[in-house]
Amino acid sequence: MRVVSGIQPTGNLHLGNYLGAIRNWVRMQDEMEEGSECLFFLADLHAISMPHDPAELRRATLEMAAALVACGIDPSRSVLFNQAQVPAHPELQWLLNGTARMGWLNRMTQFKDKSGKNREGASVALFTYPVLQAADVLLYQATHVPVGEDQKQHLELARDIAQKFNNDFATEDAPVFTLPEPYIPPAAARIMSLRDGSKKMSKSDPSDMSRIELVDDPDTVMKKIKKAKTDPEPLPGEEAGLADRPEALNLVTIYAALTDGSVESVLRDFGGQGFGAFKPALGEVLVETLRPISSRFAELLDDRESLDAILARGAAKAREMGGPTLDATYKALGLVRG
Ligand code: TYM
Repeated sequence: MRVVSGIQPTGNLHLGNYLGAIRNWVRMQDEMEEGSECLFFLADLHAISMPHDPAELRRATLEMAAALVACGIDPSRSVLFNQAQVPAHPELQWLLNGTARMGWLNRMTQFKDKSGKNREGASVALFTYPVLQAADVLLYQATHVPVGEDQKQHLELARDIAQKFNNDFATEDAPVFTLPEPYIPPAAARIMSLRDGSKKMSKSDPSDMSRIELVDDPDTVMKKIKKAKTDPEPLPGEEAGLADRPEALNLVTIYAALTDGSVESVLRDFGGQGFGAFKPALGEVLVETLRPISSRFAELLDDRESLDAILARGAAKAREMGGPTLDATYKALGLVRG
């Protein structure tokens, strides 16, 4: 098993990232068998697809590295690095650009969402971003890619690219690329905004109140949960009763994910109670989950040299691991390199 996944270092790590992806990274790392490997990276090359401030990107990259370690990613067991230190990522992207089809990229909903009405003004990088994402996982022959629901389409594209490349340039008994499987946690695949139950919780939402950040202090967490949008009805006894109540469903989903329960089990405990009782209970569980993460995060950030060393070590290992696939790709395409 080879696990590979990434996160963009834009803004702070939030509860959607944590419950939708990072917590699973840590579990996969902790349950890894002999001979399996986990690679986790900061997708800093992806971050330049949107307007950005260079100083802010530098700061966010280091902070995200510290946040991942604080959440339980152990750099002595997992390979932790940032893309910018592993040139094979953009190199492989270029090689895969010959295989990816315009029609496939035209269907990517994230490009449509992020470019909005200003399609002509969007960067080329925003359009070709999913090919870089395919390179990120194919470079390491990933078998499993733990992500939230919103990344499923990108992973399907990576499989399509791998399959077409293998068909066009390799033989069936010696494929160049492994087809990766998306691994989406059922309980928390989609954590929604605290202000609008129809939008996912996201770093790019202008309202701070829409998301819980992993560095929020207890008072801020409590305030955000108290102010989270809900409705006046008490919680129902069964999941079916949440069908038209996206904000209520979101809070119950978060509680279930944090306590390793299910929506049904939370409703068994809280059915019939109003948000006046449920919100403080949820806030409490959140504060307790975040407490150890934020104190570890603060310690790590104070030791910049160790963070730099972690990323440099991870990148050296990643360069070594990706080398053979990159070479095989050049060769399969008939490119002469001396
Ligand atoms: P990014 O940085 O937006 O998010 C990182 C991870 O968090 C998950 N996630 C969520 N899960 C549930 N609910 C939410 N509200 C929520 N918001 C974010 C995402 O699904 C993701 O797993 N393109 C990727 C980064 C990337 C990548 C890769 C991932 C680049 N290359 C290769 C996997 C493999 C992204 O922008 O994720």
